[in-house]
Amino acid sequence: MSCMLSTNFVSSVARSSTTAASKGAITSTAALAAKTTPTFCCRRQETPRTYTTRTIRPTLSSSSKHIAQLPTNTRRHISTTAGLQGLQDGNQSGISTTVKMSPPRPKRIVVGVTGATGTLFAIRILQVLKALGIESHLIMSKWALATMKYETSMTEAEVRSLATTNYTMKDMSAPPSSGSFLHDGMIIVPCSMKTLAAVRIGFCDDLISRSADVCLKERRRLVLAIRETPLSDIHLENMLSLRKAGAVIFPPVPAFYTRPKTIDDIINQSVGRMLDALDIHTEEFERWDGFKKL
Ligand SMILES: Cc1cc2nc3c(=O)[nH]c(=O)nc-3n(C[C@H](O)[C@H](O)[C@H](O)COP(=O)(O)O)c2cc1C
Repeated sequence: MSCMLSTNFVSSVARSSTTAASKGAITSTAALAAKTTPTFCCRRQETPRTYTTRTIRPTLSSSSKHIAQLPTNTRRHISTTAGLQGLQDGNQSGISTTVKMSPPRPKRIVVGVTGATGTLFAIRILQVLKALGIESHLIMSKWALATMKYETSMTEAEVRSLATTNYTMKDMSAPPSSGSFLHDGMIIVPCSMKTLAAVRIGFCDDLISRSADVCLKERRRLVLAIRETPLSDIHLENMLSLRKAGAVIFPPVPAFYTRPKTIDDIINQSVGRMLDALDIHTEEFERWDGFKKL
């Protein structure tokens, strides 16, 4: 399956991404100006900023002699608090420190693919991310690979080549396993009921469920394109629980008001809406614009 995104489409989305990034930078700068506490990390910063030679002088009411009499752990806590107080006060003498902002990075999405039917959705998402120049970090389960063989003529190597980075499902040491690996959200597409259940209870013994768990704990966007029908009480309870935990539950249910003519039309519409849920807005599908004369 080839990617059929027009140049206009790519550039229009690239433009809107840039605008979003600029907005992020403005917000960060405004927040920085409003606060006197230093910000140690910035996600959508256009240029790296370096804050040099902030000076800290502890401003404790307790005397040094008093602190020296306290147990070591308490002393360490008080010293840290005093240091922060010094920063907040903008004190100009004392300890010097240099804090560097994280450098800018490309937009980055983690894509998990599990063994539910619907691998075509995952393939289209990878194609779109690639066309937009957005990094994709792909994790495919054993059963995703098995179902993929039935559902598409693409080989595993061809699918993997669409992603920026590939990980194996068992590699629990891969970057998405840690909250310190910065990214802009994760989608599990399609998401099996087994993986849904694993994420719901926090039983993370593979890289897909672990990465999803990390998204929830870090309060990052997590989109679950769950696929099963009909749904049992257990499935529904798992979905509700994850919805309450902050995930977006996104069954790829087609819209028919667009009068889809091909499977591609149906896939593009669902994929467009899934990407909307990740704050990536494209023009590759028809958006509702009110009733028109038929
Ligand atoms: C052809 C095929 C289609 C499947 N479709 C679904 C499905 O739509 N939803 C689902 O929850 N499981 C489905 N399964 C079962 C899952 O593959 C199975 O539960 C597997 O353990 C999921 O593991 P994973 O989440 O690690 O990929 C399907 C299996 C096969 C072989």
